[in-house]
Amino acid sequence: MAHLLLRHREIENIKKLDVYRAHGGYEALKKVLSMAPAEVIQVVMESNLRGRGGAGFPTGLKWNFIPKVAGDKYVVVNTDESETGTFKDRELMEGNPHQVIEGTLIAAYAIGAKLTFNYMRGEYMDAAYAFEEALKECYANNLLGPNILGSEFSCDMYPHYGAGAYICGEETALLESLHGNLGQPWSKPPFPAVEGLYRKPTVVNNTETLANVPLIIQNGAEWYKSMGTPGSTGPKIVCLSGHVVKPGNYEIIMGMTYRELIYDLAGGIPGGKKVKGFLPSGGSGPVVKEEALDAPISYEGLDKFGSAMGSASVIVMDETVDMVWAAKKATHFFKHESCGKCTPCREGTFWLDKVIHKVDSGRGTANDIKVLNSVAEQIGGKCLCALGEFAKNPILSTIKHFPQDYQAKVRANG
Ligand SMILES: Cc1cc2nc3c(=O)[nH]c(=O)nc-3n(C[C@H](O)[C@H](O)[C@H](O)COP(=O)(O)O)c2cc1C
Repeated sequence: MAHLLLRHREIENIKKLDVYRAHGGYEALKKVLSMAPAEVIQVVMESNLRGRGGAGFPTGLKWNFIPKVAGDKYVVVNTDESETGTFKDRELMEGNPHQVIEGTLIAAYAIGAKLTFNYMRGEYMDAAYAFEEALKECYANNLLGPNILGSEFSCDMYPHYGAGAYICGEETALLESLHGNLGQPWSKPPFPAVEGLYRKPTVVNNTETLANVPLIIQNGAEWYKSMGTPGSTGPKIVCLSGHVVKPGNYEIIMGMTYRELIYDLAGGIPGGKKVKGFLPSGGSGPVVKEEALDAPISYEGLDKFGSAMGSASVIVMDETVDMVWAAKKATHFFKHESCGKCTPCREGTFWLDKVIHKVDSGRGTANDIKVLNSVAEQIGGKCLCALGEFAKNPILSTIKHFPQDYQAKVRANG
């Protein structure tokens, strides 16, 4: 099936405005300009589009939370993409930036925003060039600026480059960074839909989420819902890495199993080795064992395995991987990226990192495993944002699923 999001893989130069337009680009925007904003939100709600940034929040519902009264409102696109093993938004922005811009404009029209930002990971140079070129084309062709396509709708769009902090992908830390301050999360509520950028109602959506919007408007909610599962509609880009023959981005229709993805599309495991486990949502989600390979890739597919699809960064680990080592790598990342604003995350990630290093280096005792469990449990549910929740996952899930790997490391010390 032809790609719906990664369309640049079939259509050469779709990042250029004339090529994008020759393939139906900005027709969805044209269509919404003759619709009432509430109608646009209704179509997106009916499509069951859920946020691709990780949490899967229904997009139409988020837009509907924005107060309907006149006043400043904003759309902020989240291209921070610092989750371990995630590289889908990068490809979208490099290859097909106009589809993201069109989705952003439709969101702005739907909520009544005149100003939009795209907060992009600072290292994404090629994505930045492609995006800025696309913005220039839009301004030169009446697709951005005053009275877009001759309508009453006016809208501006700005890029903003982050400095490489994982926490700045969290929506309130992102907004704080956009304010020019240190990127640290706010306590919620209020949520950005009520008080966001400059303390005004703001929609923060992931890049991939918005790339879906023109498709929905153009083809209708029923068409969109015909793809996927009832709870997880439409296409999804999965970032596949680790022990696979062909790592990369794969655009799938949700409902495909992890086994089909890894073996049928990505050529299986190098050297014909077995899967020991995989991370379905990068370092931030609980690891699952080989038994989860037949689960569908969807928001609900991993519920019974105690994990989640998240932003779908699948990292495969073959039978040779030491899960204590893997947990140590992930934990070190969270300790490094903890912004330090709240105590359970700042202190908790520090201690997890210290103790897992000790266990991994063979200096640990059985009691250290208890300490790891206890510290991780004390972080859970007590932090300002989900980074703390994420930090406990590599430790707790590897202790649960691979206790033998821990025992092998502490046994020597008694
Ligand atoms: C530590 C942390 C990092 C995050 N990083 C990203 C990110 O890089 N990109 C993203 O879209 N969402 C990220 N999120 C989720 C955002 O807070 C937010 O839920 C998302 O941008 C909403 O967009 P969506 O509804 O379209 O998914 C992160 C959350 C946390 C707690």
